[in-house]
Amino acid sequence: MDFAFEPSPNPVPANERAARLVDPVFGRVHTDHMAILRWSQDKGWHDAKVTARVALTVDPATAVLHYAQEIFEGLKAYRMEDGSAALFRPDANARRFRDSARRMAMPELPDELFLASVEALVRADRDWIPTSEGGSLYLRPFMIASEAFLGVKPSSEYLYIVLASSVGSYWKGGVKPVSLWVSHEYTRAAPGGTGAAKCGGNYATSLVAQAEATRRGCDQVVFLDAAERRWIEELGGMNIFFVFDDGSILTPPLTGTILPGITRDSILTLARDQGLTVREQLYGIDQWRADAESGHIVESFACGTAAVVTPIGHVSGPDYAFQVGSGGMGQTTQRFLEQLTAIQRGRSPDPHRWLRRLG
Ligand code: PLP
Ligand code: COI
Repeated sequence: MDFAFEPSPNPVPANERAARLVDPVFGRVHTDHMAILRWSQDKGWHDAKVTARVALTVDPATAVLHYAQEIFEGLKAYRMEDGSAALFRPDANARRFRDSARRMAMPELPDELFLASVEALVRADRDWIPTSEGGSLYLRPFMIASEAFLGVKPSSEYLYIVLASSVGSYWKGGVKPVSLWVSHEYTRAAPGGTGAAKCGGNYATSLVAQAEATRRGCDQVVFLDAAERRWIEELGGMNIFFVFDDGSILTPPLTGTILPGITRDSILTLARDQGLTVREQLYGIDQWRADAESGHIVESFACGTAAVVTPIGHVSGPDYAFQVGSGGMGQTTQRFLEQLTAIQRGRSPDPHRWLRRLG
């Protein structure tokens, strides 16, 4: 299925677009177009197009507004040095989108349609990819239950849309060490729940914990497991890694309660390629504190599409606080950040063929 192109009748003028691309705040700069596709029980996937980005008109009884049957993805298109564009591991996002759909009783979008939608939008809005170092076009595919019905059941109609947003660093002022608040009160996901799915509800429930982190003077919240309130899981929108004094690294395992991050997987792959000892293992908050204090842990970092690789400087909980390593950017963290961004920007070899170049 091809995505028909209906160019926007009033795109943002080039000089205005250039001004918006100078220092874009994450998620605030929107492009001219969106990709859109519908699904219904009788027609299946239909009406594929890239069209002007406009406000949606929805019936107030639309199912997603009531029962949150919604999933999304996040991936980036980068400007290559030769001026072309490339996506980073979009096939992995397509697969995860299907996994999320299954968990939320939604129809699975075939990978070819996911890829075609994203590529068609990047082609239409390629002038919105920032050329600055650290800049990229953040793509946000999402799907909502669009049937107007108040009964609690899987919707019989869905709307799939891809938005694009020109971004610089996720962090105001660029990458710098973040401080974390450990939430001992709120959890994000329980066994059997939706933690491994990228559904909006997971983010809705994280907000009160994130607000508490902010109130406590921390940048981000880190969640513990729901059953024992002991094992470190992930941040509200990033996975977490620990670096030990023997050079080994550890990240929590994919037990079903954390998001299987594509950045996480990429870092594990890079680390294994380099012969590092890698563990996907449960790691407790008390142990983290003890290891940071003894110097056994020398670095910790968070990672994700939006945040890339971000060092963790300080950690606080209700009755404790500790510093990780020097409190700054560690060597291993820096190395992963550089290696990953060099591949993403087409500046270094890509042995796993992660980049998908657009002709
Ligand atoms: N964990 C959560 C809860 C996220 O929202 C994200 C962001 O997408 C990640 C982890 C990192 O995933 P990825 O590396 O695929 O962006
Ligand atoms: C991402 O990294 O793509 C995320 O989804 C994190 C956040 C912006 C929700």
